[in-house]
Amino acid sequence: MSTLAQEVANRRTFAIISHPDAGKTTITEKVLLFGQALQKAGTVKGKKSGQHAKSDWMEMEKERGISVTTSVMQFPYADRLVNLLDTPGHEDFSEDTYRTLTAVDSCLMVIDSAKGVEERTIKLMEVTRLRDTPILTFMNKLDRDTRDPIELMDEVEEVLNIACAPITWPIGMGKGFKGVYHLLRDEVILYQSGQGHTIQEKRVVSGLDNPELDECLGSMAGDLRDEIELVKGASHEFDLEAFLAGELTPVFFGTALGNFGVDHMLDGLVEWAPTPQARDTDTRSVNPTEDGFSGFVFKIQANMDPQHRDRIAFLRIVSGKYSQGMKARHVRIGKDVRFADALTFMAGDRSHADEAYAGDIIGLHNHGTIQLGDTFTAGEDMKFTGIPNFAPELFRRIRLKDPLKAKQLQKGLVQLSEEGAVQVFRPMKNNDLIVGAVGVLQFDVVVARLKSEYKVEAVYEPINVATARWVTSDDAKALDEFKRKANDFVALDGADQLTYIAPTMVNLQLAEERYPDVKFHKTREH
Ligand code: G4P
Repeated sequence: MSTLAQEVANRRTFAIISHPDAGKTTITEKVLLFGQALQKAGTVKGKKSGQHAKSDWMEMEKERGISVTTSVMQFPYADRLVNLLDTPGHEDFSEDTYRTLTAVDSCLMVIDSAKGVEERTIKLMEVTRLRDTPILTFMNKLDRDTRDPIELMDEVEEVLNIACAPITWPIGMGKGFKGVYHLLRDEVILYQSGQGHTIQEKRVVSGLDNPELDECLGSMAGDLRDEIELVKGASHEFDLEAFLAGELTPVFFGTALGNFGVDHMLDGLVEWAPTPQARDTDTRSVNPTEDGFSGFVFKIQANMDPQHRDRIAFLRIVSGKYSQGMKARHVRIGKDVRFADALTFMAGDRSHADEAYAGDIIGLHNHGTIQLGDTFTAGEDMKFTGIPNFAPELFRRIRLKDPLKAKQLQKGLVQLSEEGAVQVFRPMKNNDLIVGAVGVLQFDVVVARLKSEYKVEAVYEPINVATARWVTSDDAKALDEFKRKANDFVALDGADQLTYIAPTMVNLQLAEERYPDVKFHKTREH
């Protein structure tokens, strides 16, 4: 195998999807601990729930580095190299969270076992469906009183429409949590509380019939044997093909806080999760092992510190290899550019890499020439697809404090929308400017950046918009009629694309019924 093929075969690039407080930060800590990236878990800065004041957020961003370096974490595990992409989750939830999911090859879904499937998880799963991304599942917080595991799996199957294949099965819960039975290895792994900050030496009992099990578990051993028989009969068996098609998820039980079960999940990840995948462009599909470098930008992170006004463009390498100082074609502007000092992301104190391969992420310093969705290649003119804008869920009208600055405002908003910070809509019927976002913090970000980068002071007002859809039709006449009749709710976005801004979800539904020849899209390609 060539070096490139070997590097690609070694890599796994994934992200975590979860509802706030399910344990994403805690799992990340433990995963890095296993990756030997942290000596002792407890140093990943999590953003806690509770309101982030605006100034807090700016402070946070000012400490440049923290958010940039934790955006991507690379660590070794079991002879593999794993890339974990951060998915902002609390107030910092944004379109970037969605878009990051288009840049990974698999996802870990973390569920709070006391709560089950929660709203944010449902939304994020919907995004993973765009690419049928393979999903692993970790049922967390087994050290607490949780819901019945069978019921939890039923809920995942029903609500998220994905089959569940238990790989491990919990023995007890809460104070009585004893460990898990690994269905594939036929092993019981015993849990000890209070060891969460370390990698534990665990007691393992081989074989469900092993009399040693009765010694350790007492009467629970018999119950476990009965239960496993039942579980085996009633649940799906793990099927690699179904997993890779995004139709079945292997399920692991444990406690992130107790650092128990996270390694079982990681073992599954490196064994089953796909290696860096081929990606489509407008002309052809690109394989990761092609020699020519290529990649696309899925996120642009601005830095609020006026001293460092640069932005970082996060690029997922699709094929070939990055090396420091190399040149690549910036396809949209048709120029070759040099990657002078791209950032690479390795957790802990491992040294900075001069090379990166397909599946890895690099950070490019961006002084305004890189936009979301941009493609870089070894010279070929092609454009990666599948890095969309997502329909915003929150809307506000933006108004200037000084009306003479309308031009700057519009320019600022269009640029910020190209970066993916926010989306902007201009209704046909009036001169309003409507800002749409996926997460509420984005509104503050936009006002702060307008002020610091465009010298525009703006404020928000509420507006009656519930959702937006991009509108297209193969039938020009039908589209014209729609534009005329629905004029009050038609707008152009930052890229002059036609959108329908619906005051309520019911309006959207009615419009979809009334105009069957018009398509209403939840995402828009760049
Ligand atoms: P998030 O990133 O998904 O939002 O979740 P995070 O890891 O921050 O976890 C949310 C809370 O749940 C934290 O408690 C964390 O300690 C706790 N937690 C995570 N995993 C487990 C687990 O396996 N068992 C139990 N019992 N708790 C768990 P917190 O009180 O909000 O924060 P902290 O003050 O403890 O850090």
